[in-house]
Amino acid sequence: MEKQQSSVENLGECVGEPTMINQQFWENKKVFVTGHTGFKGSWLCMWLSDLGAKVTGFALPPSTNPSLFELCKVEELIENHHVGDIRDLDFLISAMKQALPDIVIHMAAQPLVRESYKNPVETYSTNVMGTVHMLEAVRQCKSVKAVLNVTTDKCYENKEWVWGYRETEPLGGFDPYSSSKACSELVTSAYRNSFFGQENSVAIASARAGNVIGGGDWANDRLIPDCVRSLLSNQTIKVRNPDSIRPWQHVLEPLSGYLMLLQHLYEGGSKYADAWNFGPLDSEAKPVKWIVEKVISSWTPKINYEQDTGSNPHEAHYLKLDCSKAFYELGWQPRWSLEFTIEQILAWTRAYMSKKDMRAFSLEQIKEYTTWK
Ligand SMILES: NC(=O)c1ccc[n+]([C@@H]2O[C@H](COP(=O)([O-])OP(=O)(O)OC[C@H]3O[C@@H](n4cnc5c(N)ncnc54)[C@H](O)[C@@H]3O)[C@@H](O)[C@H]2O)c1
Repeated sequence: MEKQQSSVENLGECVGEPTMINQQFWENKKVFVTGHTGFKGSWLCMWLSDLGAKVTGFALPPSTNPSLFELCKVEELIENHHVGDIRDLDFLISAMKQALPDIVIHMAAQPLVRESYKNPVETYSTNVMGTVHMLEAVRQCKSVKAVLNVTTDKCYENKEWVWGYRETEPLGGFDPYSSSKACSELVTSAYRNSFFGQENSVAIASARAGNVIGGGDWANDRLIPDCVRSLLSNQTIKVRNPDSIRPWQHVLEPLSGYLMLLQHLYEGGSKYADAWNFGPLDSEAKPVKWIVEKVISSWTPKINYEQDTGSNPHEAHYLKLDCSKAFYELGWQPRWSLEFTIEQILAWTRAYMSKKDMRAFSLEQIKEYTTWK
């Protein structure tokens, strides 16, 4: 195992400084979001509308019940809500031409590793051709100045080493999901070189975030949704890989990175048109069982967890990101510790159980994040 140097621990002293999201920049910006009905998309649309942006969404209907999108009535907050398949190129182009956006954020994807083992063809067609279609639509829509393709930390060739991956590391992917996102990265870079390479052209970047957690995720086979389902039904939590280490982070962390990067792309153009990691501090990359034990110890009534000994497909054991580039070149940094992140998720879950207004509650968490000292 070849050792690489990492400067990410140097970021430790900087946790807690304000994240700079420029409200003036976002006010009245026209933003086209694919995947807006999903977990991250719903949080992003709430944040963008709070900043005064005019959002058009393009996605399939929410795939879970309940869903953050429906609970927070996100449809009411945005200008246009298109229900469509990213594989339908003509519909995507017409929706984008109708919206004439300044900025495009591409998040529509089949985002689950285990689902990708069950449905590899759908995963590749959605994640790879979906990216091609999004970039084709951008080519045909002259209003667009900045594009962000949201991929994942799993796009790297996983060497099962303890160091964080840098943006320059080789792409790879053991399973169909991870490899489809590596393909999406390659598509992004080919389109950038082939069609958007000139000065003053559209600035296109990709973002690779770690394991994103937060209130309002009900996806199957994800740790926090599995925990929340067990808490709500008072049942033992089944854990597949208790020792696997992941770069866990609250959903608002990468979203703040996307917003900062997009402002740089829009204003600084090709200088920022590249790949960017957004993950937690090295010290916050914790094993699955650490999270489960924290969730259990902060919840009443008490429940237990046990290892799921059924046969499970391969998933990486170690995965960490080196986010020095975003820190030094964008001024982005993570703000909430993992411990506090879990408290926020449990607070969100309690509010949901008490039938609170979840849009107001979620916007309050966004406010708490942006004003964090
Ligand atoms: N949640 C995480 O931990 C995480 C980590 C890294 C990267 N990501 C990436 O972030 C993005 C959003 O993830 P999420 O967790 O919100 O997932 P999600 O499943 O909650 O949302 C996925 C969104 O994509 C849409 N979509 C799926 N297939 C589509 C299709 N064929 N046509 C149009 N829309 C389609 C869905 O309707 C939904 O709006 C994905 O690209 C995912 O790969 C997620």
